[in-house]
Amino acid sequence: MNIRLDKFLADMSVGTRTEVKKIIKAGRIQVNNKVVRDSSIKINTENDQVLFDNTPVLYIEYEYYMLNKPAGIITAVSDLKEPTVLNLISSVRKDLFPVGRLDRDTVGLLLITNNGELAHRLLSPKKHVDKKYYVELNASLTQEMCQKLREGVSIEKNVITAPAKLEILDAPDCKRVVLTIQEGRFHQVKRMFLAVERKVVFLKRMEFGPLKLDENLKYGEYRRLNEKELKLLEEYIKDTDMEELCTRELCTREL
Ligand code: URA
Repeated sequence: MNIRLDKFLADMSVGTRTEVKKIIKAGRIQVNNKVVRDSSIKINTENDQVLFDNTPVLYIEYEYYMLNKPAGIITAVSDLKEPTVLNLISSVRKDLFPVGRLDRDTVGLLLITNNGELAHRLLSPKKHVDKKYYVELNASLTQEMCQKLREGVSIEKNVITAPAKLEILDAPDCKRVVLTIQEGRFHQVKRMFLAVERKVVFLKRMEFGPLKLDENLKYGEYRRLNEKELKLLEEYIKDTDMEELCTRELCTREL
């Protein structure tokens, strides 16, 4: 990838864009062993060697973290009043963001990255990404309620949820369940149970697409995705292209 020198340095948190321009002017940056004073020169991130005060600066384009979100923290990039999930991650990158949203009181798997293209594909309603939740309820579900939840319930005017998977973990009590949905409407899980007159008292996301929550992560802890998980995501995203292609082909044929 080719990017401007000042962006390269700002992305790697050498300073703000204004600060790095001053650093470059001061002759503190070398590119391939030559001092450069022009902020606009293009750096090839794979081949060029960049030194700041004689120390190499390596460029990392994308970062991917799995966070076990704790309760009481909001899913946002920044907030004037309270801490956000991004405050839990220490990274040099300033362009990280959460992929999707969990409510303040929801815990569990949240993917954090700076790869906008990947996020866009994972959040696309066309992709039908599975989201698996562990749910505790205030009261038991009846057989009839389970069937309604599986088939689709009305959560607002003109909105019926798509078919969902529901597993009962504690039959015959039926207050602890695992729900897998492919949609991601606002407060969807809570509203689905409200539609059958039950209240969610605990909600934890266990899976998101091909990613499973690492059970070794305590609430508030995070780690980088490993090679295996990155491959799984890559494969998963590849399928999106295929699906979109097929849909387009079908549409064309129907026309
Ligand atoms: N559904 C909800 O109701 N809340 C969440 O945080 C996620 C899904």
